[in-house]
Amino acid sequence: MKIAVLFGGTSAEREVSIASAAQVVPALRAAGHEVVAVDTARGVLGPEEERALLSAGVSPVPPGLAELDLLRTGNPATLTEAPELRDADLLFLALHGGTGEDGTLQALLDLIGIPYTGSGHLASAIAMDKDIAKRLFRAAGVPTPDWAMVPPPDRPEAHAAAAEAARALGFPVVVKPSKQGSTVGLTLVRAPETLEAAVAEAFRYDDEVMLERFVAGRELTVGILGDQALPVGEIIPRHEIFDYECKYQPGMAEEIFPADLEEHEAREIQRLALEAHRALKLGGYSRIDFRMDDAGTFWCLEANTLPGLTANSLLPKAARAAGIDFPELCDRICRLALAEPRRKRRG
Ligand SMILES: Nc1ncnc2c1ncn2[C@@H]1O[C@H](COP(=O)(O)OP(=O)(O)O)[C@@H](O)[C@H]1O
Ligand SMILES: [Mg+2]
Repeated sequence: MKIAVLFGGTSAEREVSIASAAQVVPALRAAGHEVVAVDTARGVLGPEEERALLSAGVSPVPPGLAELDLLRTGNPATLTEAPELRDADLLFLALHGGTGEDGTLQALLDLIGIPYTGSGHLASAIAMDKDIAKRLFRAAGVPTPDWAMVPPPDRPEAHAAAAEAARALGFPVVVKPSKQGSTVGLTLVRAPETLEAAVAEAFRYDDEVMLERFVAGRELTVGILGDQALPVGEIIPRHEIFDYECKYQPGMAEEIFPADLEEHEAREIQRLALEAHRALKLGGYSRIDFRMDDAGTFWCLEANTLPGLTANSLLPKAARAAGIDFPELCDRICRLALAEPRRKRRG
């Protein structure tokens, strides 16, 4: 097959996406596909450019917003005019965050009718918006921690309202951008004095910010592949929360597949993960993040529609625990994409 791997882009998760592509591109080539690498910020890459970009690692901190702005030249929509994309049988989305994961790119691709991996545009947009996703989790009976949206910072009552909401949820409270990933812009706030700065930090990454009840306990994640929940993973980060550094620096988190859970517990969290996946109408594959409290309740934090595929990433580890190696995982992701009924052109 002719496959274009789309990656990079200008989101805060650019480097993570490059690291995912560095695994996906060789795996697809080894499987015999004709593969072209496309950085959605720069365009179709030649062999030299590809080698240089894909050999870069992930830094301990995400790229700065100013640095990403510099890459925002031209109109990304014109990318779809490139023959390498038009003639591809499939686009493999190794993108994370921003317009590559939030449904914007998916809508554009639906319009021109090129098949792509992962969820469709509506599901991608819903999953990226944690506020909307949490409402759907609740409606589907998937427990998710209480939360409150913070009023926009330019309103005179904003600070007092945020302080009141935090008091109602109780400290420590988690402050996060509603539409972001990789723990970027997220702060665990232990006392009212540091709330305002945390809210301001989150607003740097999104125009909507939420406060969420902190769930002390274990960190678990469940990969979904097709209609199957993969073995549950437990993450033991070096820091109290699974932050950017713990996610992408080797040795900063212990990741255990399968997690040490009773059989009935593993079955229950897998059931909840599938419910969450279906509640958001996700397609192909996803990874659902949870915390487990001391009482044994599983609290769903979010669904990732394009979870990391780096050498260090959780979904590939979950697949391996199910006997699916990385090339086989990539192959399954491609086949799931081509089998999607939404690929049929509509009016
Ligand atoms: N309500 C919460 N209680 C405890 N830890 C949390 C909570 N929300 C987020 N975290 C921590 O922050 C990490 C990132 O949060 P998450 O909601 O999954 O957003 P992201 O899209 O950035 O991954 C989680 O994996 C967890 O370690
Ligand atoms: Mg997460």
